Amino acid sequence: MDDPRYTLIQISDPHIEDPGTRQRYGTDTAEALELALRRLEESTVRPDAVLFTGDLTEDGTPAQYRRFRSVVEPVAARLAVPFAYAMGNHDDRAAMRGVLLGDGSGSTDPVFQVVRVHGLRIVVLDSSVPGRAYGELSPDQLDRLRAELAEPAPDGTVVVLHHPPLPAVLPVAAAIPLRDRAGLGAVLAGSDARIVLAGHTHMTSAGALAGVPVWTPGALASTADALPPAGVGSRLVAAPTVARIDLFADSVIATAVPLDRGLIADFDGEATARTVARLRAELPAEPVGG
Ligand SMILES: [Fe+2]
Repeated sequence: MDDPRYTLIQISDPHIEDPGTRQRYGTDTAEALELALRRLEESTVRPDAVLFTGDLTEDGTPAQYRRFRSVVEPVAARLAVPFAYAMGNHDDRAAMRGVLLGDGSGSTDPVFQVVRVHGLRIVVLDSSVPGRAYGELSPDQLDRLRAELAEPAPDGTVVVLHHPPLPAVLPVAAAIPLRDRAGLGAVLAGSDARIVLAGHTHMTSAGALAGVPVWTPGALASTADALPPAGVGSRLVAAPTVARIDLFADSVIATAVPLDRGLIADFDGEATARTVARLRAELPAEPVGG
């Protein structure tokens, strides 16, 4: 197995409700977040960072952020790696700053964050527009991103934001896009950006902007059906999903991890090692320099 230099966990759109409240579609979103984090802690994966791509809460109230924090904080303390949070259209800047980012200023300015993990740079942008569901990046956000990217990071940059800079394939998503994605593309072109991580559409999708891969992992709270049956305008299904992003020296791969799945088989470590050894033995050696 190739060893990734970095493994990031991405969790999107948890939409945490008030204590004791389920989402209007019936999902207990705090339970879904607990499940996601439990699956992460029970796995063999030790991430370098955990990234949340927005819509952390349903209504952006301090109580909802406190509930979010009560679920996430103990896990962050045990894993002892950076946790980063992007603002979504359901979030509130002042409340999120106050409860999650340790900034009690009450500022409603867009949030711009840079997190460094060894040689990897993670830039978290704020694409939210207060009171609106569509997204945009202010000239100041783009200026700050441009200034940050002017100096390459040793292992490149991961850009994180809520609204994906991609075309939309469903009518509702098309009505709440990131405006002027070309403006972001112009800043990313030729930079050391290795992947853009977004959320918002509640679907697992991949695309590209200015040659940089763009990925949305799907959501925790609800999933939009990209093949809705005829006669149904839009459909939400329960398919909570998170993602792992593995960055290698020469490549990056994003992998969706469905949480609510039926188990088909478990293989113990020895059986797995035997299978790997047999298949490895059949694999021709890579040419030198290949
Ligand atoms: Fe959302």
